[in-house]
Amino acid sequence: MPAPVSMGHGVLRAPDALHFGEGARVSIAPAVEKFGRRLGVIVDAFFLDSPEFLEVLKSLDDRGIEYRTFSDVVPELPLDSVEIAAARFSGLEPDALLAYGGGSAIDLAKLVALRLVTSEPLAEFYGENRVGRTVLPLIAVPTTAGTGSEVTSVAVVSDPSHALKVGISDPVLIPRVAIVDPELTLGAPPSITAYSGIDALAHAIESHTARDMRLDWSKTLPVATGANRLNSGFALGAIGALGASLVDAYRDGGDRAARRNNAYGATLAGIAFSNAGVHLGHAVQYPLGALTKTPHGMGTGLLLPYVMRACMPWRVERLAEVGTALVPAMTGTAEERAEAAISRVAGITRAIGLPRSLREMGVAKSQLDEIVEKSLGIARLIGNAPFEANTEIVGEIVRNAYVGGAP
Ligand SMILES: NC(=O)c1ccc[n+]([C@@H]2O[C@H](COP(=O)([O-])OP(=O)(O)OC[C@H]3O[C@@H](n4cnc5c(N)ncnc54)[C@H](O)[C@@H]3O)[C@@H](O)[C@H]2O)c1
Ligand SMILES: [Fe+2]
Repeated sequence: MPAPVSMGHGVLRAPDALHFGEGARVSIAPAVEKFGRRLGVIVDAFFLDSPEFLEVLKSLDDRGIEYRTFSDVVPELPLDSVEIAAARFSGLEPDALLAYGGGSAIDLAKLVALRLVTSEPLAEFYGENRVGRTVLPLIAVPTTAGTGSEVTSVAVVSDPSHALKVGISDPVLIPRVAIVDPELTLGAPPSITAYSGIDALAHAIESHTARDMRLDWSKTLPVATGANRLNSGFALGAIGALGASLVDAYRDGGDRAARRNNAYGATLAGIAFSNAGVHLGHAVQYPLGALTKTPHGMGTGLLLPYVMRACMPWRVERLAEVGTALVPAMTGTAEERAEAAISRVAGITRAIGLPRSLREMGVAKSQLDEIVEKSLGIARLIGNAPFEANTEIVGEIVRNAYVGGAP
């Protein structure tokens, strides 16, 4: 087993300002005003007529801010949506964009913010650190407690010429202002609460268990800098909050304390993973999601306990820290606490109604090899695992998740 290098190197890239708390949405208009008086608004259609959103529009009107709205937000973000949304703002020349919705709306806005400053095909920017220019300022207001997109440097898009979804990752895509108002998540149905919340827990646990890197400070820093103390503080805070409240928010969507904890946890997890990076669960979810057309969080959540199991030999101490974050009173050796963390996470996935196995998700046994092979092809995620991931280990994760049962 390779000795872990110290978790001493770290980078923190985040919005200039992060507003968190019930009612924080009233700070949208003042935040917009700092960037100018013309605004492109990308809003999930679900909220278009909601009293909260209408109030936001009124406060923009009151301040004399000129805006245009685009609400045709398609989940899993198809590439052509970016062109259609950008065309909607032509002639307005917005000074800034506002995204109001889940990860799909925020990712769309990130790419429109890029599209409006360049006519190059977006495919030129797929990958890491390839944008290299300032994009339009974005104010992001999430309505799901999950992706963390309001604080992250990545936008995920479905390009019909690629079998798997692709990402554009560059710190210039980080929204300038994130306004996280947990009240906006109160209406999310249990399935969305479950899939987005467990994905946030996966962001936190994968970023805390990622590889250790020594950064070469003289070069452009990678987007994913591996597990490090700076980001692990956010990850462990996220694990505590989500562990305490995800099941409660799933069972009772009106539980305001649980919603607040989930929103807090998801945003913290976003900061952690945007800087440290995620790894195996996310790598396997890409082909899994493409094959089964299932939501991102269903896959990352179902896989999470099996990924933790695979990390055990390399990450006992950090998984033990996950255990203590989940249950502060937890006692025992590091190994016992790490084991308890795995069962606890598996218990959460069951309590929020995730499928018990890949088989239950509709995967055929004959498709397992293809899933493993395609996962191994996603170098930026596979390379961020705490060990050299190969066909054998990823195969074990996928086969165990296929059968289901105790991880
Ligand atoms: N950029 C990132 O950092 C990042 C990270 C993880 C995932 N993603 C991407 O984000 C997308 C998923 O985002 P998501 O999980 O937030 O869901 P989403 O934005 O796709 O929304 C899913 C559904 O939930 C509805 N919805 C959203 N908020 C609601 C609310 N409060 N009440 C009722 N309904 C509501 C939407 O109308 C939509 O029908 C995927 O495309 C995924 O690839 C991005
Ligand atoms: Fe995710």
